[in-house]
Amino acid sequence: MSVSFVKEMRSSGNGLLVRISAIAAIGGLLFGYDTGVISGALLFIKTDLHAGTFEQQAIVAAVLLGAMCGALLSGYLADRISRKWTKVLSGCVYVIGALGCAFSLTAPMLIGFRFLLGISVGTASFVAPLYISEVSPPRVRGGLVSFNQLAITSGILLAYIVNFAFQGFPDEWRWMLGVAALPGAALAIGMLTVPRTPRWLVMHHHDDHAREVLEQLRDGDDEADIDGELDDIEEANQNEQNTHVRALFSGRLRPLLLVGIALAVAQQFVGVNTVIYYAPTILSDTGLGNSAALAQTVAVGVTNVVFTIVAVLLLDRLGRRALLLTGTVGLPVALLILGVYFSSASLQADYGWVALAGLLLFIAAFAIGLGPVFWLMISEIFPVGARSKAMAVCTIVNWGANFLVAQTFLSLSNAITRQGVFFLYAALAVLSLVFFAFRVPETKGRPLEEIQEELT
Ligand code: BGC
Repeated sequence: MSVSFVKEMRSSGNGLLVRISAIAAIGGLLFGYDTGVISGALLFIKTDLHAGTFEQQAIVAAVLLGAMCGALLSGYLADRISRKWTKVLSGCVYVIGALGCAFSLTAPMLIGFRFLLGISVGTASFVAPLYISEVSPPRVRGGLVSFNQLAITSGILLAYIVNFAFQGFPDEWRWMLGVAALPGAALAIGMLTVPRTPRWLVMHHHDDHAREVLEQLRDGDDEADIDGELDDIEEANQNEQNTHVRALFSGRLRPLLLVGIALAVAQQFVGVNTVIYYAPTILSDTGLGNSAALAQTVAVGVTNVVFTIVAVLLLDRLGRRALLLTGTVGLPVALLILGVYFSSASLQADYGWVALAGLLLFIAAFAIGLGPVFWLMISEIFPVGARSKAMAVCTIVNWGANFLVAQTFLSLSNAITRQGVFFLYAALAVLSLVFFAFRVPETKGRPLEEIQEELT
């Protein structure tokens, strides 16, 4: 897992791999930063740009719509211009998007630049793990996925800290959105210094170059088997060419895709990003000032990172299912606490900390289960030939579900009250739990054929 991955990076003494892992972390970091930053910025944007409920939702959701398009586009671009150049492009678009947001004069202008930013974030969410998995030694590939989740949660935390630090500055929300240009630039420039992946080079018939890159990447690695890896790449390419997207929806692959899509939808329908985006709003509605609300939101971010680390350490020991099920039991409990809190005037008057406790329990339960397990499972349950296409479908569905939840939270709160929304998410979490208990297989250390058999 991630820890062995980090060890591997260090012990191989290979500077190139160390640099690549750092650059990959920037991709995840941008994904997380963008998710987290809008929550704090929104408190100021809504008054500054006179944004009503619809516009506020659109400001949050534009990134998600853009991310869906980005994830769609990136499959094509990554094959066409290479993973490397897609990531360079993604970094450049991120810089333009971040600066455009910072200098936006009206809400529609901000929504437009957030859409652009989304294209970059969606691209990063798909190409970052793809790039790294194609350059890393096979034995540490699994760890990279949860490493990426750690980067995402660190990005969210960083955003919360930046939000807290910039409050009180003139034009605070512009700074909050604008500083993201720096890691965006670091991604673009950093990617210029790394090679294209051996897999892409083989796909484009640059076999000699692929061997050269692989030799550089495995330099100092005693267990490296360059010929074996090149054979595997060749075979995976062949399989992939023979698997059309349509094949995912029929035959043996369909039950696997169903599990992937169910995890993608459940990950969002339990309302995680409502918590991420609206935590400061929820907390400031408990009677805290904006500043205390932002400070407590940092506690939510820290809890998210800490429990992601716990998950990363336990996933290989306890298995994916144990953590997924445990985490998903915690979610409805936390959501019920939030629902009851917002239903009771006396709780709200005297026990503001109950809302914080509910949020912390929720994020811990998510970080230990659905957060990392969704991304990990979609990289494990599909056969190699169908993997990147199936992962792309699940990633797009995940962003689509994220969009739906963000776009409806405030309107739903107006229609069925905020507590009503939390009760709804609690019910969806219980449904997810039942599905996971019956349909999600354990993937830890099991051959694919056995998993497929269990599902069909
Ligand atoms: C999800 C994001 C979410 C994040 C929270 C990720 O796994 O895909 O939507 O914001 O976890 O930590």
